[in-house]
Amino acid sequence: LTQGRTLRYLWYSKGTVIGSLQFGYNTGVINAPQNIIESFYNETWSSRFSEPISQGTLTGLWSLSVAIFSVGGMFGSSSVGFFVNRFGRKNSMLMANVLVFIAAAFMGFSKLAASFEMLIIGRFIVGLYSGLSTGFVPIYVEEISPTSLRGALGTLHQLGVVIGILMAQIFGMESIMGNASLWPLLLAFTLLPAVLQCVLLPLCPESPRYLLINRNEESKARSILVKLRGTDNVAEDMQEMKEESQQMMREKTVTIPELFRSPVYRQPIFVAVMMQLSQQLSGINAVFYYSTRIFERAGVSQPVYATIGAGVVNTAFTVVSLFVVERVGRRPLHLTGLMGMAVSAVLLTVAMALLDQLRWMSYISIVAIFSFVAFFEIGPGPIPWFIVAELFSQGPRPAAIAVAGFSNWSANFLVGMCFPYVEQVCGPYVFVIFTILLIGFFTFTYFKVPETKGLTFDEISAGFRRSAGQGADKYSAPEEFNTLRGDDPDL
Ligand code: GLC
Repeated sequence: LTQGRTLRYLWYSKGTVIGSLQFGYNTGVINAPQNIIESFYNETWSSRFSEPISQGTLTGLWSLSVAIFSVGGMFGSSSVGFFVNRFGRKNSMLMANVLVFIAAAFMGFSKLAASFEMLIIGRFIVGLYSGLSTGFVPIYVEEISPTSLRGALGTLHQLGVVIGILMAQIFGMESIMGNASLWPLLLAFTLLPAVLQCVLLPLCPESPRYLLINRNEESKARSILVKLRGTDNVAEDMQEMKEESQQMMREKTVTIPELFRSPVYRQPIFVAVMMQLSQQLSGINAVFYYSTRIFERAGVSQPVYATIGAGVVNTAFTVVSLFVVERVGRRPLHLTGLMGMAVSAVLLTVAMALLDQLRWMSYISIVAIFSFVAFFEIGPGPIPWFIVAELFSQGPRPAAIAVAGFSNWSANFLVGMCFPYVEQVCGPYVFVIFTILLIGFFTFTYFKVPETKGLTFDEISAGFRRSAGQGADKYSAPEEFNTLRGDDPDL
């Protein structure tokens, strides 16, 4: 029964999850062809200035091409609230595709125009789209899901991301599109999912929560809910939404500054931001942007295949998380993931440091990176993206998603831009920095992140309201939320 239900939601969210796939594709696409595109930069530079590009300028231009994607993401994610409240969830997603068409044109024609600037602009624009998607998709999926499936369906966003990354890695093989003549096509390929999304999205229903709570269109919301839940008996869901709606009348739409000023929101927004930072500052994108280079340095003879291997492990463990998140809960998975990543990072450091003495250490570094990625997808990958929508009710949700998204993308930018430089300075010890950060985030999660599994949005906000009432210094989230669950052993 549950599987049937899950499949039905999968069906309804397929059009939206393409947004996540695009984000993943453009995250992974610049990894394998780094050397090839760098030589295009070099040639373009030489023919323009009649001298070869210096190593410093090349590193700078390449890091910029990688990381400007996240600058786009920062702008995109912070405009999410504006779009979803004004145009609705579904139409916002549909409109955003204009950005992909423009970006694909810039990137696809950059070689023809002998312009790396065009490639960089294209990366920025597709970053805008991806930033919007990282808000749109979790909002939509969380809003259409029943409480008991929210975590599993929330993980669909991440599943879209990892499949996108894997696709990009495979297409990036030299024999497919990762070669000197076809790389522009590899970058412009992002056009096809956009076309597919324009076809599929109109078949998805608008979020019933948005219709009822934001637009007061009760009968429309009800009929969509009947379709989604597969039963006429939606009274309980309607009741829950109406309660949230009344709550929202009291709290109105919340602006970003209010999120930080109000004692009721201060705790959940702090948790939300820290969850994002724990995801990005774990160092995951050092792997997904630069793994081919990392494997090369670690003495692996076929680095592109190792990169694809990382993509496969990445996808497999996201599926694992999808199946266990409703049973095990968010907190234990996030904690396990962070600790596992910290241990893997230590292993990787040891392997890189000993490489000169022991050649077989290159195999250990493959194992270390695979396990780093696997632990990431157990918790820190999927959970931060959907937990923000859970921590807030309808009124503050869009503003909170924007703040969280902005923090996530800023940290993403920091890692993407700085990793190549820091690596030049720290050599094999670069992952020690991530280890320290990971342990810090583990501690934070242990003491401050509540379990949200099985609680309605309203109950979760009530938990925070209650602890805010007791004064911030008494705040111990995990305990507060346990009492909400009462004696029900299933929750
Ligand atoms: C998450 C992160 C993203 C990362 C991906 C790896 O979605 O937000 O930055 O590339 O996981 O699977």
